[in-house]
Amino acid sequence: MANRKILVAANWKMNGSLESIRHLIKALTQGISNETPTEVVVCPSFVYLSELSEQLNKTNIKLGAQNVSHLEVGAYTGEVSASMLNDYGCEYVIVGHSERRMLYQETDERVAEKFCAIQSKNMTPILCVGELLEERESANTEKVIARQLDAVIDKVTIDAFVNTVIAYEPVWAIGTGKTATPEQAQEVHQFIRLRLARRNKSIAENIRIVYGGSVKADNANQLFEMADIDGGLIGGASLIAKEFLSICHAVRK
Ligand code: 13P
Repeated sequence: MANRKILVAANWKMNGSLESIRHLIKALTQGISNETPTEVVVCPSFVYLSELSEQLNKTNIKLGAQNVSHLEVGAYTGEVSASMLNDYGCEYVIVGHSERRMLYQETDERVAEKFCAIQSKNMTPILCVGELLEERESANTEKVIARQLDAVIDKVTIDAFVNTVIAYEPVWAIGTGKTATPEQAQEVHQFIRLRLARRNKSIAENIRIVYGGSVKADNANQLFEMADIDGGLIGGASLIAKEFLSICHAVRK
């Protein structure tokens, strides 16, 4: 059994102010040390990356971004490139979040292009996949996840997944307070790992597959105890220091 370190990543989405993120990061840097059993990442809005890259320097908390352009440079008003994120010390970039897919019409193809842009600057994509409620109810969960995964694998090859984190985020569980049960999540995580194993067993065994969707301090332990759940991508609860710190200290027994 591979020894996959639990990853806990905060997706702050479009929340916070300079003042509130300063408070939050102060509490997090005080609460996370090299004794913390998990790898911790925070993904603020672009405008706070500079502030955080200074504050997180020499701490055990890593920096990530929530989005990136698929393009390298040029006349693309409002876009942020992978090399810009690199300038601020981002190590991770979330890609394919359901909010981007649904609200900003990001296609599987665009997600794959962004994935390439992230890896081309030696950062790690946190590739989000997940089904809508109606897709789950019509028994199409696996079909949807397979399509979202294959779109990226077909473009970058399975070898690129050596340096990748996958986040399974059922859309019906995001921000709804309705968490997938540990068993429901485990079933999909196992499906993802098996699908990758068809292409490369060792990559499948070592890749971290984290769960996102209403993870809280009081359900993180049960989720992270499942064999194929290697951590969480946390939205709402990551904005509350005490709650997030408690998730960061959830461990596999
Ligand atoms: P919530 O934890 O608020 O449900 O959000 C999950 C999420 O979308 C993380 O990317």
